[in-house]
Amino acid sequence: MNEAVENGAPVPAFAVVQESAFDVAAREALLDRAMGPKRKRKSSEKIRRARLPAEGLAFVAKDAEGRLIGTVRLWDVRLGEDGPAALLLGPLAVDTVLKGQGVGAALMRQAIAEAARLEHRAILLVGDAPYYARFGFSAAKTGKLAMPGPYERERFLALELVAGALDDMRGTLLPAGRKASTRRAARSLAA
Ligand SMILES: CC(C)(COP(=O)(O)OP(=O)(O)OC[C@H]1O[C@@H](n2cnc3c(N)ncnc32)[C@H](O)[C@@H]1OP(=O)(O)O)[C@@H](O)C(=O)NCCC(=O)NCCS
Repeated sequence: MNEAVENGAPVPAFAVVQESAFDVAAREALLDRAMGPKRKRKSSEKIRRARLPAEGLAFVAKDAEGRLIGTVRLWDVRLGEDGPAALLLGPLAVDTVLKGQGVGAALMRQAIAEAARLEHRAILLVGDAPYYARFGFSAAKTGKLAMPGPYERERFLALELVAGALDDMRGTLLPAGRKASTRRAARSLAA
């Protein structure tokens, strides 16, 4: 459990744990609240559709009562047709009422640490650079890479887990994750 006291006032305790099948409904409800109905139209969705997240890389944050208050998942991708493997991160979302209390940062740190432990080489995402820069993400190495669909180039960011992993990389990100069965896909569809 992450516990903290800020200016003498306790802030909610929470823990980051692996997502389980029991979390899917609450995760989808949280994503709907946090990101709205258009969330499933994003380019990232082309990579996530009908796939399972990368093995061991789906996390939720839960409060002291076990309520789901945050989510992040990572997805296996390939950098171009015959390119190397990497991960795509997203969506990251935190319950609106608990924003600014470090839940997003805890999810990001856990996701990055576990991806590194599992010997992945790089993580890419589409998101706000001012937020993700604090975790080491930048657009410095995504210039010759592309998402499969419309996106804002300055929001296409990457973090190398192995120095130089993205040097000279070019091509469009392609889904490389384990395929979900239709029923499982319907349950775990991301956005
Ligand atoms: C973005 C999000 C995940 C951050 O989660 P969080 O738990 O509130 O974040 P943390 O508590 O770890 O960090 C808070 C800090 O990030 C900053 N921050 C939050 N969102 C930001 C953004 N989009 N751009 C820049 N900074 C941002 C806050 O101002 C705060 O700054 P401070 O530490 O200097 O006070 C959460 O706000 C959210 O779910 N947003 C809606 C979904 C979304 O947009 N997800 C994708 C993000 S691109």
